[in-house]
Amino acid sequence: MTPRPDAVTPPVDEPRASLVVVANRLPVQPDAEAGVNGWRPSPGGLVSALTSVLQRGNGLWIGWPGTSQHRHVPAHYEGIRLRPVPISADEYETFYLGFSNATLWPLYHDAIRPPAFHRTWWQSYARVNRRFADAVTEAAAPGATVWVHDYQLQLVPRMVRERRPDVRLGFFMHIPFPPLELFNQLPWRREIVEGLLGADLVGFQTRQSAANFSRLARRLTTADGTDALVQYEGRRVRTGAFPITADVARFAAAAQDPAVRARAKEIRQDLGDPEVILLGVDRLDYTKGIQQRAKALAELYADHSLDPEHHVMVQIAVPSRESDAHYERERHELEQVVSQVNGDYGLVGRPVIHYLHQNMPFDELVALYLAADVMLVTPFRDGMNLVAKEYVTCRTDLTGRLILSEFAGAATELRGAFIVNPHDLEGVKEAIRSAVRAGPRETRERMARLRRQTMRRDVYDWATTFLGALEST
Ligand code: G6P
Repeated sequence: MTPRPDAVTPPVDEPRASLVVVANRLPVQPDAEAGVNGWRPSPGGLVSALTSVLQRGNGLWIGWPGTSQHRHVPAHYEGIRLRPVPISADEYETFYLGFSNATLWPLYHDAIRPPAFHRTWWQSYARVNRRFADAVTEAAAPGATVWVHDYQLQLVPRMVRERRPDVRLGFFMHIPFPPLELFNQLPWRREIVEGLLGADLVGFQTRQSAANFSRLARRLTTADGTDALVQYEGRRVRTGAFPITADVARFAAAAQDPAVRARAKEIRQDLGDPEVILLGVDRLDYTKGIQQRAKALAELYADHSLDPEHHVMVQIAVPSRESDAHYERERHELEQVVSQVNGDYGLVGRPVIHYLHQNMPFDELVALYLAADVMLVTPFRDGMNLVAKEYVTCRTDLTGRLILSEFAGAATELRGAFIVNPHDLEGVKEAIRSAVRAGPRETRERMARLRRQTMRRDVYDWATTFLGALEST
């Protein structure tokens, strides 16, 4: 039976909230291991950042519970109220997998895969955005602050503004915002830009994305002004870069935990005590350049720059959007490449690439960061990439080397990394060689620089900086 869109019942008779976070996902997700009605926190720094902010401000989180099955959603999480927005099985296909992840996601990531444009997907996107906007309209107290997140909900600001001009509206885009040449492919480009212009403040990860948006707004609508501020329909709309930071306190604390440190040693032993452990941690996504990395590695084993006895790689690929054809194909191709590299260069009981297609528990992830001598973050395009910042946060003893794509938002800040163009295989190989061979002094200097850039601000500071800028609009 197809679940009805009202399959998740929202709480009734709740007081209205003065601070509302709206994101496609709630901070909790179904946990099959904890039984039919089990829930666990959704992963990611955003949840911790926004949870602390909401705890201090009579906050409410509006989002999709991550399932179209009928489930009782907890009314609270860590002292904040939750309001579920249901998405039907059909909308899961058309809104989530379709318009969000097969139209917008590839289009906003350099069209690495061809974006698909379907009118029915667009209609579903508008319908689901309307449902989120209705939930905000009902739940926000007079004069409330409303913070909408990410590409799944770009129409929400305007929809809310039309009914609730009293609220202060912020929007933050977690992924890149494309340049005009790409964005203009979108048949509904004007509607999307107008949707975002409903906010008082539209924030991005980088100045480049903010400028792309602002220029498009001036090109496609009646908005007029500068990259930082436009006048639109008699209102001022600010745009700017608010680069997201890692959950520094949580990672730094775990990196000092003796049990986690012992586990890092154990991982090294389990891998056969190699000289160098290389690590990749990504959602299994075609934007992440995981295959390129494996191919670069294969060539380095082939030309003896790396030695299978001494250099091993661990690649964590977190399952993601698995029912989408592009993601299925990516997994298939990646697994072929990995098994080929292991077939060609592995030793008995000692593969050169240890590939895990799994979610990683938090402590295990930190132990891997501690065990890894070289961290590879080589996406073709990425809004920020928090893995890079988390790795740096964990390297308290100034060891560890980071290879980072120039196309990740993080590259605008993390200048101490070995910066690479992931499309340039020779360049990636050269960066791996340099990182593997870097002496203790260079490593220490680079890591000290990276840590100065990373440890300055916590993700809580990021959230309060954005909200502060919103309050002053
Ligand atoms: C990116 C997006 C998030 C999204 C996450 C996981 O980080 O910016 O909005 O939640 O990927 O993807 P998923 O489709 O599982 O929500």
